[in-house]
Amino acid sequence: MLQRLQHVLAIETLSPEQILFILDQSKPFQEFQRHPLKKLATLRGKTVALAFFEASTRTRISFATAAARLGADTMNLQAESSSLKKGESLIDTVRTLEAMRPDGIVIRHSSSGAPEFVAERLGVPVINAGDGMHEHPTQALLDALTIRDRKGKLEDWNVTILGDILHSRVARSNMHLLGKFGAKITLCGPAMWMPQELEALAPGTRRVPRIEEALDGADVIIVLRVQTERIHEPALAAEEYILGYQLTAERLRLAQPDALVLHPGPMIRGLEIDPAVADGPQCGVLEQVTNGLAVRMALLYHLTGGAPVDAPHPAKERSNAAD
Ligand code: NCD
Repeated sequence: MLQRLQHVLAIETLSPEQILFILDQSKPFQEFQRHPLKKLATLRGKTVALAFFEASTRTRISFATAAARLGADTMNLQAESSSLKKGESLIDTVRTLEAMRPDGIVIRHSSSGAPEFVAERLGVPVINAGDGMHEHPTQALLDALTIRDRKGKLEDWNVTILGDILHSRVARSNMHLLGKFGAKITLCGPAMWMPQELEALAPGTRRVPRIEEALDGADVIIVLRVQTERIHEPALAAEEYILGYQLTAERLRLAQPDALVLHPGPMIRGLEIDPAVADGPQCGVLEQVTNGLAVRMALLYHLTGGAPVDAPHPAKERSNAAD
């Protein structure tokens, strides 16, 4: 019998069974996004606190929309507008939120480990929405859902991850997740962003300096966002990055003909990805966004809804629609 999830802090500590359970539970919520009336009453009366200590647009909107579509209310904390600027500590801020009695807290923070720190101290379920350079579990789950849908299965793909792997929590969560499902992972990017330690994150991971070699035979290509503030001379000029690592249509032809291209967003067209690839049929970026809603609905439901893991799925119960 599957254990109820208490928190979702990282992919590393989830079992393959738990990951598959979340993906299967996301499926009916994915179909639900196509309904003309997109609101359930499943979490009516529940409150989800969104504590974003780091700038975020898409992930915050995705969680807020997921909560709204389940009928939950949200409490919003954004770093810019809060007393964090006045020097309040993380734990005081989240204890203040907790005192307003939310049923779950979604946290994004620039420090690795911040969601775990909070989860150990509060009695509320915590979902990590991205912590420093550590993990971004919901991103890896929505990527896995997109891969499974587009390619028919999750197991045993050749996965190439391109870009600034060192600083990327998206890369780390994806390596943990896909590594648990037999992926052969190839990392490719400037040498300073590809330290050897990364190979320990998933069995059989290799680092390849040349993009042509890294793309050869790839089934799934994950293009990471390049933080423009990290690209500057003399270390690395934007032109050098484009020449060395941009995913162009010509380079994409080196991968499998049906290779799937993913990007967590926001995409910088013309830097890490050529617009012809971003807008092409192999790119799954918009499906990733829709799947993000489905995965986040599934997690909010399971963490805050209180239903047993084998309860009938809320998106399949018509009588559950909000009035
Ligand atoms: C990612 C993040 O913030 O970790 N974006 C996202 O959640 N949509 C990737 C990134 O910004 O590099």
